[in-house]
Amino acid sequence: MKKAQVIVDRDYTVGEVDKRLYGSFIEHLGRAVYGGIYQPGSPLADEDGFRRDTLELVRQLRVPIIRYPGGNFVSGYRWEDGVGPRDERPARADLAWQVIETNQFGLNEFSDWCRKAGSQVMMAVNLGTRGVEDAKNLLEYCNFPGGTKYSDLRKRHGYAQPHGIRTWCLGNEMDGPWQIGHKTAEEYARLAHETGRVMKWLDPDIELVACGSSGSATPTFGDWEATVLDECYDTVDYVSMHQYYGNRDNDSANFLASNMDLDRFITGVAAICDYIKSKKHGRKTIHLSLDEWNVWYHSNEADEKLEKWGRHPHQLEDIYNFEDALLVGSMLITMLRHADRVKIGCLAQLVNVIAPIMTSDTGAWRQTIYYPYLHCSLFGHGTVLNTVVKAPVYEAKQYGDAPYLDCVAVHNEQTEELTVFAVNKDLEEDMLVTLELRQFPRYSVKEHLVLHDPDLKAVNTERDPDRIQPRRASAAAVSDGVLTVELKNKSWNVIRLGRAAER
Ligand code: AHR
Repeated sequence: MKKAQVIVDRDYTVGEVDKRLYGSFIEHLGRAVYGGIYQPGSPLADEDGFRRDTLELVRQLRVPIIRYPGGNFVSGYRWEDGVGPRDERPARADLAWQVIETNQFGLNEFSDWCRKAGSQVMMAVNLGTRGVEDAKNLLEYCNFPGGTKYSDLRKRHGYAQPHGIRTWCLGNEMDGPWQIGHKTAEEYARLAHETGRVMKWLDPDIELVACGSSGSATPTFGDWEATVLDECYDTVDYVSMHQYYGNRDNDSANFLASNMDLDRFITGVAAICDYIKSKKHGRKTIHLSLDEWNVWYHSNEADEKLEKWGRHPHQLEDIYNFEDALLVGSMLITMLRHADRVKIGCLAQLVNVIAPIMTSDTGAWRQTIYYPYLHCSLFGHGTVLNTVVKAPVYEAKQYGDAPYLDCVAVHNEQTEELTVFAVNKDLEEDMLVTLELRQFPRYSVKEHLVLHDPDLKAVNTERDPDRIQPRRASAAAVSDGVLTVELKNKSWNVIRLGRAAER
């Protein structure tokens, strides 16, 4: 059995977890909206046409914030099409995904749905085909109290109170040549800066996210962020990052090491933010919004064969297997290890489209990746500790020396809980981990949850929705301030410790 050592000290911290780290994303794409969260006429829908079964699974995840309405979709979107009487809303050709958008669901419905889900809205403005004027009008519609054209229009549409949306994305993936209205860094930087200035004049309480790179491997990475932030430093609060991975070569060991790339990406973007801050003698730290991240590749082939101009077809419907859940767990660990800089994270996406939740006309179920996301959202709150890991490594084809163990500890001072998240990437052997808990007297193990399956390719389906689900293990124990735990080969682990009351 391999062995690893971990050290945590209550005083050596990385930073506070922003609860928005566990956000998600709903785009007008495939069956995310139509058939996913909204299906009027279905026996599973409530009085607003919202799927009750989906809402229940989303509520269990306690998703703090959800990005909307895209994604690539937003770069051709006219938000006015999706508000007001439904029978007057136009259908449009959505060029991003080559489908027909009926606009029967829009921002007011999304705001209502988010309220029911217990989430906040993170809204994106269209900087592909539109600009300053339309972004200002949308913000006025959403957040202005009343007495102006667009705030009064909102009232006429039945929303007397403003939606009060605080976090706004200045476009989507504007660095990508696939984007409607794709721009050079200089073109985007000017537009984002001017749009952001006007938006903050209208509502100084909002926070703005500038588009960063749509992946760590884009040819413009680095120069893009530097150019954009050089222009927008005073206007924006976050820069975005998007990152997806896939096991296209069926090399699972290599695939499971992909979060090493995410780690380097985050470190690089944070360094660029700090370079600009320093260059400008600024006081403000620009934080990171990893507002699209996930595994995405299973559905690529099927999507290429899709007929154009359908209505909410099965698009980007990745069926996630067990190894995908392990990587999602490792990506969450990486994000937590950078909790001082990554303040917003949006698992892309939430329902049906590269999603932890799937639906059919007859029900909704949890994909494998649901569980690491759920566990972090429930237990990953408080202060991230600088978790020192000494573990054996293996050679990953793309990434070099990859540790078999990913691990991070989060201390919640309020609840006096210490939670350890860990992935054992060894595909054959279990691992004996000793974790030295410095300055955690009287902490003992409350629960050890394990996600493990002998088959890396095992999936959950509507007929077999619980094939992959967490189980309790009982052997982890603390003795003399050292937690000893055996981690199953290929497993996601959550070890929850609590402090015993003083006698
Ligand atoms: O999440 C799916 C797509 O991935 C989004 O629309 C786009 O922003 C990204 O390329």
